[in-house]
Amino acid sequence: MIAEYFKSKKIVITAGPTYEKIDPVRFIGNYSTGKMGYAIAEELAKLGSEVHLVSGPTALKVQNPSIKLYPVESALQMYDACVNLFPDCDIAIMSAAVADYRPKYYQDVKIKKNEEDLMIHLVKNPDILSALGHAKKSNQIVIGFALETHNELEHAMDKLQRKQADAIVLNSLNDPGAGFKHSTNKISIILKKGTIFEFPLKEKTEVAIDILNCIAENLA
Ligand code: CTP
Repeated sequence: MIAEYFKSKKIVITAGPTYEKIDPVRFIGNYSTGKMGYAIAEELAKLGSEVHLVSGPTALKVQNPSIKLYPVESALQMYDACVNLFPDCDIAIMSAAVADYRPKYYQDVKIKKNEEDLMIHLVKNPDILSALGHAKKSNQIVIGFALETHNELEHAMDKLQRKQADAIVLNSLNDPGAGFKHSTNKISIILKKGTIFEFPLKEKTEVAIDILNCIAENLA
């Protein structure tokens, strides 16, 4: 069922962190490695999907030569790539850890250590998941991720609603072995209609298969 469903589907996936430049030598980033998104991309490519992987800076290499890689650095670049790709896609899977804010001003020379206090004015980045969720047609599916530290389910359900996603993959930083830096993850998947699926701690490659099975069985 899963192979049949994903064969020749066109899918955009985001992965990794974004870097928001402060000056030529510094940026605001986060600990995302991109492993979860790359694992989903590889699994889909194996199933015969046309995979478009929009990736923030990571140390990972794409293995399957059929995956089209769009390397980006900032949230704005990731947003532009996704908005261009999405209209022709069947499914969007937004697993990137996108920086919520970027410096308002980029300093084109290195900031010197002159002051005791330094303020960096930040402005909100566009929300890619929310933009695609609100733009999606009835034949398109949009999946988001949520990494939470407290009131996990409540926050994930709020994101599902606010960003108009079809499902949210939730992982908690409180679960040992889940989230950033690990090759394992422990997820729950919350569907728009309220159903919740819980999964045990697994390797991210196996988590990718669980996510794809859940899409094929419940959202197709
Ligand atoms: N996301 C996105 N674009 C952004 C911020 C987040 O596409 N600018 C996506 C992520 O890829 C993920 C989901 O939104 O699929 C949840 O991201 P998260 O940072 O947890 O949500 P926020 O809306 O930023 O909520 P908060 O930081 O308040 O928890």
